[in-house]
Amino acid sequence: MNAPDHKPGPQPKPEAPRPQPPKPQARPVRVSLWRYVRLFRDDILSAQPAKLYRAWMAEFRAPSFRSFLINQPDLIKRVLKEEPDVFPKSDRIAEGLKPLLGNSVFLTNGETWKRQRRIIDPAFEGGRLKATYPAMRAAADSAIVRLQRQVGQGAKVEAEEITSHVAADVIFRTLFSIPIENEVAGEVFTRFRNYQRSQPLLNLAAFVPLPKWMPRFFRRGTRPNAKVIRALITKLTEARMAAIKAGTAPEDLATKIMTTCDPDTGERFDAQEMVDQVAIFFLAGHETSASALAWTLYLMALYPDWQDQLVLEAEALEDESFSAISKLRLSRDVFREALRLYPPVPMMVREASCPVTFRNRLVPKGAQIVLSPWHLHRHERLWDNPDGFDPSRWQTENGKQCQREAYIPFSAGPRVCPGAGFAMVEGPLILSLILRHFKVTCISGAEPVPVAHLTVRSKNGIWLQFTPRGEADQS
Ligand code: HEM
Repeated sequence: MNAPDHKPGPQPKPEAPRPQPPKPQARPVRVSLWRYVRLFRDDILSAQPAKLYRAWMAEFRAPSFRSFLINQPDLIKRVLKEEPDVFPKSDRIAEGLKPLLGNSVFLTNGETWKRQRRIIDPAFEGGRLKATYPAMRAAADSAIVRLQRQVGQGAKVEAEEITSHVAADVIFRTLFSIPIENEVAGEVFTRFRNYQRSQPLLNLAAFVPLPKWMPRFFRRGTRPNAKVIRALITKLTEARMAAIKAGTAPEDLATKIMTTCDPDTGERFDAQEMVDQVAIFFLAGHETSASALAWTLYLMALYPDWQDQLVLEAEALEDESFSAISKLRLSRDVFREALRLYPPVPMMVREASCPVTFRNRLVPKGAQIVLSPWHLHRHERLWDNPDGFDPSRWQTENGKQCQREAYIPFSAGPRVCPGAGFAMVEGPLILSLILRHFKVTCISGAEPVPVAHLTVRSKNGIWLQFTPRGEADQS
């Protein structure tokens, strides 16, 4: 049989290799405890050895403590879902956060925590998202107007600044029906930023316990900032309490939480406890979303083919009703993939309240159990193409299985993030709306380096070129 006649015509260009999303360099294999502590203080991610991306469990042993990082799906399930009461949050997490967060749901354990969740959870149930949506959309629209003013015909922009601002606006509008331009809201936002710089949520003490006798020093600015923030939040909650009594309160998250009774005891939050909860909603709810959105924007600049697809899909947002969200399927897959590669909460810590056995090894009472979404989400023995950006993985068998067993950006079990559903509407909405109005492109020489502070951030910010779509489309 004759071979088909192949004429040498123009050959398709070989595809340029796709860039890999940035990943921090791992540390050398062996380091002393003190060097580890120093590396850790600078950045939790680069302080870890590369083998954690392949290990099922790793033990860190020092004279004063034992710490076990677990990366094995059934162990994670056991700690978070099956036996959460055996593995409570460590008291050490509260160190440094108490001045601001008091007795907030993020720090409590046992019966107090269970009661707080019974009151908070109904405010975030699926059906409530629809009621929250107009406020979210208003915050997103107003971010577009701000950006249009800021970038004019096009400009270099630090994405984390933009996303922090809009995520804070979302929280104020959904919680208290006030925009970030409100004087009190604006001041809380600025003060929180200063507080975080002085006292990150992910504190060293939670991972490397210091002996009890060692004096604790708060960094300068921590206590005074916490005091002012709490006074401002008290002002908001007291005004709301009065509006509820007068029957004039708007139907937002604050009103819902403040009027919900614990179904078991009939109690509501008192003013002080509500201040604690508002502080954590603000802290946990805006920093995390801001980090995820900034990384997603960067990924869209790195993979313009995905950006183009999202722009087309975002036409659905012409419709301002809540139902438009269900049409942002690709945007959700992209956001989910960004949460895999850059989980805003990179590590979580629990404490063994009694001796247990993990992988035939004794874990003594008091040992720290570290769960690391950062390593689990890139685990080389679990994920196909673990370090690559591939939003279509969520439709594959491997992606679906890993989503069930090895994907915990919002944690899991009874202590799962109550704002997860909220964040999965907010993220794709803001992402799609920004891309609908602006083309985002990378700036040469400004590749971000992931580091873990309060959340996973970039060492020198995430710098992107924003060009309004009209102009971008003509160029
Ligand atoms: C992309 C956005 C978000 C991510 C990745 C995220 C992630 C998480 C994670 C991993 C935890 C568990 C931490 C631990 O157990 O140590 C958590 C807890 C929490 N999150 Fe979120 N979160 C997000 C958005 C939100 C939003 C929008 C809110 C509220 C409006 C919120 C409120 C909370 C609260 C109150 C807790 C403490 C729950 C408890 O301990 O019972 N989060 N979040």
